[in-house]
Amino acid sequence: MKQKELKIGDLTLRRPIFQGGMGVGVSLGGLAGAVAAAGGAGAISAAQIGFREPDFDTRTLEANLRAMDKELNKARRIAKGGVVGFNIMVAMQHYADYVRQAVKGGADFIVSGAGLPVDLPGYAAGSDVKLAPIVSTEKSAAVILKYWAKKWNRVPDFLVIEGPKAGGHLGFTGEQLSFFDAVTYREEVKRIIAKVQEYEEKFSGKIPVVLGGGISSREKADEAFALGVDAIQVASRFVTTEECDADERYKQAYIKARKEDVMLVKSPVGMPGRAIRNSLAERVMGGEKFPPKRCRGCIKGCKPAEIPYCITEALIQAVKGDAENGLLFCGADAWKAERMETVQEVIDDLV
Ligand SMILES: Cc1cc2nc3c(=O)[nH]c(=O)nc-3n(C[C@H](O)[C@H](O)[C@H](O)COP(=O)(O)O)c2cc1C
Repeated sequence: MKQKELKIGDLTLRRPIFQGGMGVGVSLGGLAGAVAAAGGAGAISAAQIGFREPDFDTRTLEANLRAMDKELNKARRIAKGGVVGFNIMVAMQHYADYVRQAVKGGADFIVSGAGLPVDLPGYAAGSDVKLAPIVSTEKSAAVILKYWAKKWNRVPDFLVIEGPKAGGHLGFTGEQLSFFDAVTYREEVKRIIAKVQEYEEKFSGKIPVVLGGGISSREKADEAFALGVDAIQVASRFVTTEECDADERYKQAYIKARKEDVMLVKSPVGMPGRAIRNSLAERVMGGEKFPPKRCRGCIKGCKPAEIPYCITEALIQAVKGDAENGLLFCGADAWKAERMETVQEVIDDLV
């Protein structure tokens, strides 16, 4: 299927592909810039983005805000005028500060999931940054569309649907994950698109829909477009690229993984997540506890004294290359990676 360019207001994607935000540190300015230069939309993950700053442990918020600017500037230098934005999780403490920093830095878009971004339009008020919630079910789409319409008198600039085969934290309960298979989820996507169309009519404007989760081949991309979405969101395929910001050992763990090495893990805050099987993932799922050495206040509602392990610690260890003791988030199809590629090759293969 030949795909057209996608316009979102004044932004033009030559290729209808969003790179999914990957925290901590997997999608920074290097990857996001390369995706943007190749005609897609590059997303920098704001999650604990300052982990390489010298004052990260003592002044975490300041370090993160500073690193957001640095990574956006880096992405802009690489992007050749392409589209670059941020993925900012609603569940992060200081969410509003991160959104304001993204706006101040001149990001093209902000995508927000891991919770519903009910107040995002308020935090980004007065700017023309494009705003997109991530939803996984018709119910969550209905709630956020209704809320934005009522409270902010607007609709999202685009909407991202993240399916059950995505990586990182998943927007599903364990029960929903076992309920949704390829067929039932396709029906859910159609219901979400129908819900979006209601609001397109009410607000007389197009709301592009982006679908992600397990889109790892041209065939799967074509299936997504056939459902009626306007773009795809892809993350795992970009991990095994030269431009990805993670350590080489992280990328090799994807290449080495077999199908049975992709597993569900429980995140400290209760949400299920998907990751590559390694020592940490198995020990955590076996009930072992790793009391956090320190707390850098990442996720709202986390109780450091009660959690089995610290998500910030585990993700930073992974991105720095400790493939056994770090948490290697991945999508359901990550095991299919066989070799390193370039961002351009991945995009040419998919769209
Ligand atoms: C390593 C990794 C880290 C991720 N981190 C985040 C994140 O910080 N925030 C978020 O909203 N989604 C995160 N995701 C989800 C992706 O943005 C994306 O929507 C999803 O993985 C797409 O499915 P795919 O990996 O099969 O292409 C992550 C995914 C991966 C693989």
